[in-house]
Amino acid sequence: MASESSNSTARNTASTGSTSTTKASAGTALTLTVNGVNRTITVANTSMPLLWALRDLLGLTGTKYGCGIEICGACTVLVNNQPEKSCDMDVGSAVGKSIMTIEGLAADVDGQKAQAAWVASQVPQCGYCQSGMLMAAVGAMKAGHHGTSIMSEMSNLCACGTYQRIRKAVSSL
Ligand code: FES
Ligand code: FES
Repeated sequence: MASESSNSTARNTASTGSTSTTKASAGTALTLTVNGVNRTITVANTSMPLLWALRDLLGLTGTKYGCGIEICGACTVLVNNQPEKSCDMDVGSAVGKSIMTIEGLAADVDGQKAQAAWVASQVPQCGYCQSGMLMAAVGAMKAGHHGTSIMSEMSNLCACGTYQRIRKAVSSL
């Protein structure tokens, strides 16, 4: 699995509270709604991956970088309650949408249930893929799936092979 990485375009600023979207000489100011809070960042390029904005500008490092090519799912977040691979989503296209990361999961009813199931089944091994796994599982729950049908909606990869424990965890949801 690739090491975590930063993007040179992500050397900008972040703040809370503002709701405006403006263009300044230093870049473009965007307001993202992340875990229920409006966060304003300035980016040099609105096509920067959402993953870089979350990790490098907002400090939400629970979302992981794995493949960078929309395959592994380590970077999964919820956008308007649907799982999205944030390595492949332009930050500009996330404006006006509700983004949930692993840091916001404990405040979400489905997230609380999934986290409890993960703990009860002792799912993680190294843990690197698990925030993406949980977000994908919660996205499936929000789409109306229950039990092992949650797992059929998940395409995330785990290098440690925790799939059997994930199946056990989702079977209780
Ligand atoms: S980092 Fe692998 S799908 Fe995004
Ligand atoms: S990659 Fe180690 S727990 Fe999935």
